Amino acid sequence: MIGLCPFHGEKTPSFNVSPGRNIFKCFGCGKGGDAVTFLKEHENMSFEDAIRWIASKYRLQLEEIELSAEDVKDRLLQDSLYLVNDFAADHFRKQMMETDYGKSVALYYCKQRGFLDESIEKFSIGWAADAGDALTKAAASAGYNVDLLKKLKLSTDTGRDFFRSRLMFPIQNLTGKFVGFAGRTLSNDKSVPKYVNSPESELYIKSKVLYGAFQAKKAIQQLDECIVVEGYSDVISLHQSGIENAVAPCGTALVEDHARIIKRLTRTGNIVFLFDGDAAGIAAATKNLKNVLSQDLNVKIVILPDAEDPDSYVRKHGAEAMRKYIAVHAQDFIFFKIAQQQKEIDRDPVSKVKLLRELIGLIALIPDQIRRSVYIRECSSRLDVSEQSLVSELNKLIYQDLSKKKQAADKSGSRAGQQSGDTGEEYFDESDFLTKPKKSVHETGKTFGSQLQEKDIVRILITAGERIYDESNSISIADYILGNIAEVIDDFDDKFYESVVKEYLQRQNTGEVTNFQYFIQHPDEKVRRLTVDLTTSPDEYSPNWEKRWQLPLQFQKMPEENFTLDTEQALKRFLLRRVGQICQKNHERIRELSSGDNMDELVIAMKAHQKYVELRNSIAKELGVVVLK
Ligand code: GTP
Ligand code: MN
Repeated sequence: MIGLCPFHGEKTPSFNVSPGRNIFKCFGCGKGGDAVTFLKEHENMSFEDAIRWIASKYRLQLEEIELSAEDVKDRLLQDSLYLVNDFAADHFRKQMMETDYGKSVALYYCKQRGFLDESIEKFSIGWAADAGDALTKAAASAGYNVDLLKKLKLSTDTGRDFFRSRLMFPIQNLTGKFVGFAGRTLSNDKSVPKYVNSPESELYIKSKVLYGAFQAKKAIQQLDECIVVEGYSDVISLHQSGIENAVAPCGTALVEDHARIIKRLTRTGNIVFLFDGDAAGIAAATKNLKNVLSQDLNVKIVILPDAEDPDSYVRKHGAEAMRKYIAVHAQDFIFFKIAQQQKEIDRDPVSKVKLLRELIGLIALIPDQIRRSVYIRECSSRLDVSEQSLVSELNKLIYQDLSKKKQAADKSGSRAGQQSGDTGEEYFDESDFLTKPKKSVHETGKTFGSQLQEKDIVRILITAGERIYDESNSISIADYILGNIAEVIDDFDDKFYESVVKEYLQRQNTGEVTNFQYFIQHPDEKVRRLTVDLTTSPDEYSPNWEKRWQLPLQFQKMPEENFTLDTEQALKRFLLRRVGQICQKNHERIRELSSGDNMDELVIAMKAHQKYVELRNSIAKELGVVVLK
């Protein structure tokens, strides 16, 4: 099956899923793996969570064996931390809904500023009393360990409540679990911070949580658009009015992790910043731009009239007006930046240069080349500068960025850098105007020596090694291959392929199950990648080919349907290549010897040469290959 890749923006599908092998592979961005890898990378799940998710989706019984004591402790700790947060959220809710003070102050405030009961419930709004230790005490007497409250920073080191006399907005992760809290003061005293957030804890990592995302995710998916606002009250009011695709970072800028979450939730990555018209709102929009551009999101910016925030606007004018305002005022970031500085530019031409630099810096962050060129064109026409000069400036920046990343990758161990797939290099593959840094042979596909043939051997071992090669002798394909290449197993041209073959051999000797499943879940990331690469091909088999040319495609056409033939041919190709190499070496030796006077050696070498050539020719004949030298 083939479709648009969920990991990178593309218009022509290059994301392949093979249900038979249970793997996916994108030939655009290179991501690939099995179902677990998919969930890990696409949903940011841990390995364990991915397994649990799959098990529950398909109603499989999970049997957990041999959890280390450490794992059990971590799991229990995490579960209990969530329980404590549940308790706290419920405590705050009761404080607001069931105490006189809560009702007459906190609930009254909510109603007064227009939060409906359904919103209070939907967002679990509550009240933290002023008592100093109300929550800590209640939790302790309900049997919760105060140390856990301290871990979550709900209680201070001295055992007092962290949140006192504040309207409480619990913060939920994407699955709806409470991870932290934000508390708003109801006092007008300017010396008191208006909002206080839970400090980060094991559960609450600010860069990874978006307020409202749990409630908004369905609408975001359906509308293929996410509205980002600045405040908690903005999220609540928009949802309440029926604009349910709104989220907010929790008192921080919108960072790359946030952008990734949004990218995952939307189909094509549409994001709208809906910010206040004051200086702070404009500054925030600018600050966040970088992070969404680098994630290849389609960003639009909407700035509200001065002195309005989304909450106040939607309350005053209603959802329809809000929607219309967004539709009319949504600006591309180029227009936004130019509009911000229009006056300045008109006054001082130097500021135009500055703005151009800034814009090109932003455009350079966009991974998608087509999108980059669209923006370049826009910049060029808007600011009346030649496209060519913008492109060359852009290329300079991209190149600098590449070399920086390359240097960083080299420093952190070249292999790791090249294989991580996250160096950013891939992003710019399409920019052919750049001299790309040299890649390893594994990436370029260029080979030397017998690499190609060695890879073929590895392919067959991984995909079909455990199958039967010869029924009468119950020999497996792996037995057959390993037996045939035993002499050269320490002498592969490609040491990585050699290590895989050796691992196979070693596992076979110890009787461990070694099959496709094993390799696709291999502990080494590099081997996992190799496994995916070996079993997926960007080229599709055209059914017309055979008819048209009367050529049966033994290899391209489902090699798995003919393992024996495939194995034999691969092995022969491998041997042919090896023998060819030996022939060549021997030939050189003969040349050397013929200029000396060691006749005996020369004769031996020539005899050997004849044998090798015969062997080579006979293998070639079997393969139907013509040997040129
Ligand atoms: P309301 O006054 O209740 O309508 O809140 P608001 O969301 O309109 O507040 P404001 O526009 O002042 O701030 C926007 C967002 O910035 C808030 O929702 C918070 O996330 C954050 N924020 C504002 N003030 C503070 C503060 O004192 N401390 C922290 N940590 N965050 C703040
Ligand atoms: Mn407000």
